[in-house]
Amino acid sequence: MKTLQNRVHDAVTVKSCNSHFCRQVFKETLRLCPPVIGTARTTPEELCAGHRIPAGTMVLLPAFVMSRQEQFFKDPLTFDPERFQRNEDSPLYAYFPFSMGARSCIGQQFALIEARVVLVKLFQKLHLKWVPGQKLGMLDRLTVRPSSQCLHYITERVKSA
Ligand code: HEM
Repeated sequence: MKTLQNRVHDAVTVKSCNSHFCRQVFKETLRLCPPVIGTARTTPEELCAGHRIPAGTMVLLPAFVMSRQEQFFKDPLTFDPERFQRNEDSPLYAYFPFSMGARSCIGQQFALIEARVVLVKLFQKLHLKWVPGQKLGMLDRLTVRPSSQCLHYITERVKSA
């Protein structure tokens, strides 16, 4: 957490929240903790892709499971924003926190900008320190959220000279 905060603080000004590192942090967060764990589609016609799937079948597309697969992401459980820099971009259909296709998230571009602005604004002014002893879990309630309070000590960030 400390390294992440320092790097965001050093690398980013509000003007430059387009910074690569900020994008990578957000992309990696969505990979490990996609707020929508998956979606479903109904096949309009019979599909044959390894298996025969009859028309009218509901197919579940688990973004959460796909983005944690070793075959697509090296050390999948490690939070490593720079994996997106090392041209380790996942195969197209392994990473889809905003879903894909005609009914994908209409707010994707807005969400990407909004999240970076909030991240930058917060970390520029504040220092967050995880309150020890808490268990970090995820709760799926249509969208995913922390299962507990996620308590932090918050102090004002002191600018280093
Ligand atoms: C990190 C933030 C967000 C994530 C991860 C996310 C994820 C998703 C996903 C996975 C879907 C597809 C659901 C499906 O397949 O049925 C979706 C749909 C949608 N999202 Fe988002 N979303 C986010 C933010 C937003 C924002 C900020 C807005 C609006 C400003 C928005 C508006 C919508 C709408 C309207 C749909 C329905 C699109 C349709 O059915 O054609 N989303 N979102």
